[in-house]
Amino acid sequence: MEGFKNLSRSVKGRVTLITGAGSGMGKATALVFASEGAKVIATDINEENVSQVAKQINSSGGECIGIPLDVTDKNSIKDALDLAIKEFGHLDHLINNAGISSPTTIEDEDYDHHWQTTLDVVLTGQVNLIRASLPHLLKSDAARIVNISSTEGFGATAFVSPYTAAKHGVIGLTRSLAVELGPQGINVNCVCPGPINTNMTAHIDTKDKATFARRRVGLKRYGEPEEVAHATLSLCLPASSFINGVALPVDGGLSIRRA
Ligand code: NAI
Repeated sequence: MEGFKNLSRSVKGRVTLITGAGSGMGKATALVFASEGAKVIATDINEENVSQVAKQINSSGGECIGIPLDVTDKNSIKDALDLAIKEFGHLDHLINNAGISSPTTIEDEDYDHHWQTTLDVVLTGQVNLIRASLPHLLKSDAARIVNISSTEGFGATAFVSPYTAAKHGVIGLTRSLAVELGPQGINVNCVCPGPINTNMTAHIDTKDKATFARRRVGLKRYGEPEEVAHATLSLCLPASSFINGVALPVDGGLSIRRA
């Protein structure tokens, strides 16, 4: 059609590194990207889970390597990236997904521990991956960083203050790097999932989940990991070239609901 530039809506052949890809949304993201033809570097602190994910993708015709990687350990990040570049040659997308939640009260005597552990994984872990991946991403013609934040990145629930602070930090980090790295051809965005059925929410009673969803979520249900993975994929399409610095809620309407 005249007047339209043909921007690609395919990630085929692109190389995508995902942290925390051993379960939940990270695993779903690995499966979705692989099913769209991307070469996936699935990483997780849980080596067994991530090798299962790689096996699942490779046995169904996709391309994936599973590599153990702890986002808090710079040596582990360097080793994983070296291996990934040796295998696939380049890197187009970094999906900073690994996370933990560590409920606590501000008066808890172990608060310092909760704070440090959560900040290390949820916020500093993303910085570690971005800094180590940068030389590779700068060589891509459609480089993308997608940081996974949360609706806790712009709202708050009691008794998870380290997590809420870290997720607010992820949005700030995303915005700052969007303006810093944008001129160098790297789009930096974040996805803010609402309540999603994964291991992280598995401890919540089904009835309590249903009540919460009925009262708070526009769609009146929890989301599924794949629904978040598709939002992440959208931000990585070469055609999504003018989206930079957004914090995209994928929350069934949780964040806009008033009554
Ligand atoms: P999950 O528990 O299923 O997956 C988290 C993954 O991160 C696990 O495979 C775990 O092994 C890995 N991980 C933990 N520490 C790590 C480390 N130091 N290095 C590397 N990997 C590590 O949970 P889920 O829900 O899939 O979480 C994915 C992301 O989504 C997290 O950042 C989480 O904070 C975020 N999120 C989750 C929501 C939910 O309702 N489930 C809502 C909003 C955000």
